[in-house]
Amino acid sequence: MRIYLDNSATTPPYPEAVAAMTAALRENWGNPSGIHSFGRDAFDAMQAARAQVAELIGADAAEIYFTSGGTEADNLAILGVAERFCRGHIITSAIEHAAVLNPCRYLEERGFDVTYLVPSAAGFISAEQVAAALRPDTLLVSLMHANNEIGTIQPVAELGRLLAGRGVLLHTDAVQSAGKLPLNVAELGVDMLTLSSHKLNGPKGVGALYVRHGVDIRPRLLGGGQENRLRSGTENLPGIVGFGCAAAITRERLTEQAAKAKLARDTLLAELHRLGLQDFAVNGELSERRLPGNLNLSFRGVNGAALLLLLDMAGVAASAASSCSSGSGGPSHVLSALGLEDWRLEGAVRLTFGWQNTPEEAKRAAAIIAEQVEWLRSAAGGEA
Ligand SMILES: Cc1ncc(COP(=O)(O)O)c(C=O)c1O
Repeated sequence: MRIYLDNSATTPPYPEAVAAMTAALRENWGNPSGIHSFGRDAFDAMQAARAQVAELIGADAAEIYFTSGGTEADNLAILGVAERFCRGHIITSAIEHAAVLNPCRYLEERGFDVTYLVPSAAGFISAEQVAAALRPDTLLVSLMHANNEIGTIQPVAELGRLLAGRGVLLHTDAVQSAGKLPLNVAELGVDMLTLSSHKLNGPKGVGALYVRHGVDIRPRLLGGGQENRLRSGTENLPGIVGFGCAAAITRERLTEQAAKAKLARDTLLAELHRLGLQDFAVNGELSERRLPGNLNLSFRGVNGAALLLLLDMAGVAASAASSCSSGSGGPSHVLSALGLEDWRLEGAVRLTFGWQNTPEEAKRAAAIIAEQVEWLRSAAGGEA
């Protein structure tokens, strides 16, 4: 049996979400903008899903704008704010997902200033760093809630308090934390928040941007004016219904699921130690300030890409950094920003656990990892 330890890349959809989507595809295929009963049925299903997604983050349903995923929601947040201005300053971090970094780079080319805050070696950005970077022309702070490679949880609520009443908007990419940590937009004090369905056991190709009532951002897609004129295009109704269903289930099972993921993660790490594997390190602080299912390990003297191939052949699916940057070559921009030694950049592997991973699987995966690491080290001449 293969063992899937890449739950930050994507997650298996809940059977209930698949069933809800299938029913929507078959029976509820009307256009939600239609004024007839077919349209109204589709509209009602979409609004029910909107309420389910809103509930996951403590928002009002009218503050949820469906998109094609986390990437589009991040782009909409950042470019949608920038569109209102010709110039200005944005603060973000060097460890954001490419869906935030690339819109920021694009804006730099168009005359905006962007500050990329560098994390501590443990993987955190502090509110003090943000406070020190603020300028009179700062428009937006975009800081991810939890990092996709090392799982570190950033002090977004502290930023919310710092920025309150300053006229600076706060966006957080909560793609990795949604469904794993309790999320409440009022407690976080954010103006915008990004969600992606496929990271919380929903379908791919659908996500959402929460935009607080009263926050003015401009659309990126112009057309028929769907999603309250912020995101044109006929809505992906089956995807939205599946997303809503997954959001409702994940909200109900959050504590139990997070505990299961953490148990599997902790079991794998304990097992590597029990097996006597030497010379490896956890990247990013391993504490309560980390996603329960995230582990990022470096093995001295081992090439991470080679190890991943061997693990895959032995039935363990893991990834290098984020699934988006793997294959692009070069060390992870997140691990590089932590200032890690070369061997840790070279030998890094991300193992991300979900509620479906059992301690038994974790133990089997640990044995396979230890075996393959030892093999690679011996093949390299034992100099490690
Ligand atoms: C932190 C983060 N933001 C955004 C995304 C992009 O989401 P999507 O795959 O829905 O476009 C990902 C996906 O890996 C992610 O991990």
